[in-house]
Amino acid sequence: MERILSVNNRPDEKMENHRLEGNHVLEVNHLCTSFFTQKGEVKPVNDVSLVVPAGKIVGIVGESGCGKSMTARSVMGLLKYPGKIVSGEILLNGRDITHLPEKDRCRIRGSQISMIFQEPMTSLNPVMKVGKQVEEALRLHEHISKKEADRRMLEIFEAVGIPDAEKRCKAYPHQLSGGLRQRVLIAMAMICSPDLLIADEPTTALDVTVEAQILRLMKELCKDGTSLLVISHNLGVIAQICDYVYVMYAGRIVEQADTITLFDRPMHPYTKGLLHAVSALHRDQEVLDTIPGVVPNLLHLPEGCGFSPRCRECEDRCLKEQPLLTETGPGHKVRCHLCQSAGQGKASSEPMSGGECLKDTLPAENGKTASDSCPMKGEERK
Ligand SMILES: Nc1ncnc2c1ncn2[C@@H]1O[C@H](COP(=O)(O)OP(=O)(O)OP(=O)(O)O)[C@@H](O)[C@H]1O
Ligand code: SF4
Ligand SMILES: [Mg+2]
Repeated sequence: MERILSVNNRPDEKMENHRLEGNHVLEVNHLCTSFFTQKGEVKPVNDVSLVVPAGKIVGIVGESGCGKSMTARSVMGLLKYPGKIVSGEILLNGRDITHLPEKDRCRIRGSQISMIFQEPMTSLNPVMKVGKQVEEALRLHEHISKKEADRRMLEIFEAVGIPDAEKRCKAYPHQLSGGLRQRVLIAMAMICSPDLLIADEPTTALDVTVEAQILRLMKELCKDGTSLLVISHNLGVIAQICDYVYVMYAGRIVEQADTITLFDRPMHPYTKGLLHAVSALHRDQEVLDTIPGVVPNLLHLPEGCGFSPRCRECEDRCLKEQPLLTETGPGHKVRCHLCQSAGQGKASSEPMSGGECLKDTLPAENGKTASDSCPMKGEERK
């Protein structure tokens, strides 16, 4: 825990502030990605805007099928047919990479931007030793000797906490535990020191002890200069690791705020529902307080607010008008008709204690709240 906290207590405040205000490693503006299927157009990424400031950890959270992985794949240029970016832009260190030709994409993948995929087992080649796989990722981008690549591979294995690295690098993926496989993937993603690492459900398949180790490791990576975009459906993971959070539902961002504000004062009924469900689990309630219904089929979204069929606070206009993402406080935006008058809405005024159980895991910064150090503080509000 001490190491995790120390990540947030960085000494160079001036540099930090400069970075927060001006330097976004990743900027996604009004991104729309669609799948053109025989049954019609599916929009898993619908007008999504987000930023990852340098040196920060940003999270995307939401239920299964809400578009988290498709957002990440759009950024990586790894959409599979019939998926396609329809509009919007993706800037990596200020450079527009939205429609970068595949040849140029290959150059930046690994060296400037890396991704840990959702399925660790399918991301590794089962018939190749893990050390060789990590080495290959390095030699793809850097023209170095085999000896130097060996040295760097062992160095990164040790850095990500793989014990007995010389022996383990000769193992095949199936010979390693889930935690070690995930460390190999992190090593592979990090060996070229990318500016941005996207981690899609990095700890889903791991037990809680290994999960804590991997999260700590990712915090350490961030300290060493790599910014992180962490995707998870697990609010506990998001609470432990992220500086700022985007909540996604049915392809859209429905709420965004710094982590402490989001857990202290969630405003969107969907965010509240997610937090209530977690706190019910922690309270060992016999009947879980879940969000009614399921994520809608993206082919048949309701006309107004996408959350309306499941929302206990739904009103007439919710059925007809799509709510806009509206700023309700510094760095806090909500897409809900009830929250649109600058945080004075009904939804915002209700007490919310759903995130209590996760508060112990939230990052603390020298007594400051996360909103004091909000990554979006001072930036132009969109
Ligand atoms: N090949 C495809 N054809 C049509 N629609 C697709 C295809 N792949 C994904 N989708 C649509 O995109 C939606 C979002 O998928 P995505 O993988 O981004 O969800 P997710 O939020 O990452 O969920 P999970 O938590 O389960 O990983 C899916 O619900 C589906 O409607
Ligand atoms: S806009 Fe209406 S239906 Fe949608 S979340 Fe807000 S209250 Fe619920
Ligand atoms: Mg996914």
